[in-house]
Amino acid sequence: MCGIVGILGSKPVAIDLIDALRRLEYRGYDSAGVATVENGHLERRRAEGKLRNLETRLSKEPLEGHTGIGHTRWATHGKPIERNAHPHMSDKVSVVHNGIIENYRDLKAELTAKGHTFASDTDTEAVVHLITDAMQHGCTPVEAVRRSLDRLAGAFALAIIFAGHDDLMIAARQGSPLAIGHGDGEMYLGSDAIALAPFTDRITYLDEGDWAVIKRRSLEIYDRSGKRVERPIVKSAASALLVDKGNHRHFMAKEIHEQPEVISHTLSNYLDMGEGRVNFPDLGVDLSQILRVSISACGTAYYAGLVGKYWIERYARIPVEIDVASEFRYREAPMSPGGLAVFVSQSGETADTLATLRYAKEHGQRIASIVNVRTSTIARESHAVLPILAGPEIGVASTKAFTCQLAVLACLAIALGRARGHIDTAKERELVQALVEVPRHISAMLRDEDKYVDLAHTLSKASDVIYLGRGINYPIALEGALKLKEISYIHAEGYAAGELKHGPIALIDEKVPVVVVTPADELFDKTISNMQEVAARGGQIVMISNADADHAGCKLAAYIPVPDAHPFTNPLIYAVPVQLMAYHTAVQMGTDVDQPRNLAKSVTVE
Ligand code: F6R
Repeated sequence: MCGIVGILGSKPVAIDLIDALRRLEYRGYDSAGVATVENGHLERRRAEGKLRNLETRLSKEPLEGHTGIGHTRWATHGKPIERNAHPHMSDKVSVVHNGIIENYRDLKAELTAKGHTFASDTDTEAVVHLITDAMQHGCTPVEAVRRSLDRLAGAFALAIIFAGHDDLMIAARQGSPLAIGHGDGEMYLGSDAIALAPFTDRITYLDEGDWAVIKRRSLEIYDRSGKRVERPIVKSAASALLVDKGNHRHFMAKEIHEQPEVISHTLSNYLDMGEGRVNFPDLGVDLSQILRVSISACGTAYYAGLVGKYWIERYARIPVEIDVASEFRYREAPMSPGGLAVFVSQSGETADTLATLRYAKEHGQRIASIVNVRTSTIARESHAVLPILAGPEIGVASTKAFTCQLAVLACLAIALGRARGHIDTAKERELVQALVEVPRHISAMLRDEDKYVDLAHTLSKASDVIYLGRGINYPIALEGALKLKEISYIHAEGYAAGELKHGPIALIDEKVPVVVVTPADELFDKTISNMQEVAARGGQIVMISNADADHAGCKLAAYIPVPDAHPFTNPLIYAVPVQLMAYHTAVQMGTDVDQPRNLAKSVTVE
């Protein structure tokens, strides 16, 4: 999703703006631009595509201003072409924006009638003309922004600079996060603290509805009602983090390989490994009294939640309702007070998940969020935050965040099961021990990647791939298909193995690889039967299992052995082969693995 940066500097800022934007590349974008105040007037450079195109433009036509804003755009309104790239500007004001101005059509009609000419197809340009109009009518920049903000509907973050004002930037947050960085006689603004890490670790986060008047040596923050407010300066850990790929070719590869370490880290936060017990944080409710759990999330995080449903229903015997957040938010689900509502989100900013959270809160639910970004909006609006501690995930396709989400959900299921009297001390010790062994099993699989390179030859030639799984491993089939399609652009679908006969089997022929996620658990024989049905129709079977290949009873196109593990932890372990399959296929196809086309890391629009 779009990234915003801004700098009030003591030297030309264009290069530093690009540096900061580079750290936001992971969010996904299709054009970029910067604008600065140049000897009192505004100048901008924009380019389609990657930041290197913008750098080329800047090397030919440099900007020298000491005050500037920058943007990476993920197109919502208007094609990803230079004309629609941010910053948008008039002779008075330049604006970068993340989010959607929902009433922009009305504003555009009103401003056009007043004589303003729009040069782009974006919603953002309405903000430019609204502020310009107010300034033409005698308002100061601050007054013009204040009045304009009152007219905007939607979820957005804005950064604004002004012609003739070298020491002024205004930022506003309504739905999309913004971080202000404090330097020494310099000030910074970014969509997150990672963007600002090269410059400062002293960060002030704007709260929902806040807007800020930023100068080199002062910061004034106002809340939605216009009241002056103080927000603390916190020390950000992001500065210490080196956002680089280490020895890996892609961030995604690095993040897949980090999983043993980060899962250990997550588990150590929720387990007392010595005692063999879950050490779960206080959710502010008596877990033994929870009669109903609802889970809501999007994409990969939703699949983590789906595994959570299987775990909680089976081990805690509590009914779990789950839905993708974009559906949950509008279907007016009845929620009797007293339930636990769990929201899973890597970024903590996903618009649909946030809207569902607010709905659940209004309906008297206890809100727990499983997030990677603890300062995120979802975390802040929750009664209890369960951090996944995965560290920054830069690859757009989620990998380590998924398995760390699973680790937290597994601990939650045990905590609920124990509280409800369905898990005794011995069972708890057994399940905790199973979790403790997960990083070792994943490490073993990561030592042996060659077979995925061979398999990628087969998958990269396919135009459709089907993934099958049963029970708690069905969500892993869904996640495997999502990973493959998002980074290799090969059409893939996941199905519950038992559903195959009810339609999807019509798709099978000798050109279709069918990936079967089938641990030797209580459902193994049933999945093997489904696999044989596929084999009988000529499908190329890729079996992922801890059972020997000869248990398949049919010819295999490939066999991916998996270590023997407790069935409870299989989703964590089987997630890794499906990630590696997708990764190596995408590498072989030469796609942009870390920033696949059309995708954004943080989806702050619905
Ligand atoms: C896929 C992927 C997405 C996200 C989804 C939710 O690899 O990463 O499907 O899982 O956009 O994002 P978060 O977890 O940030 O709410």
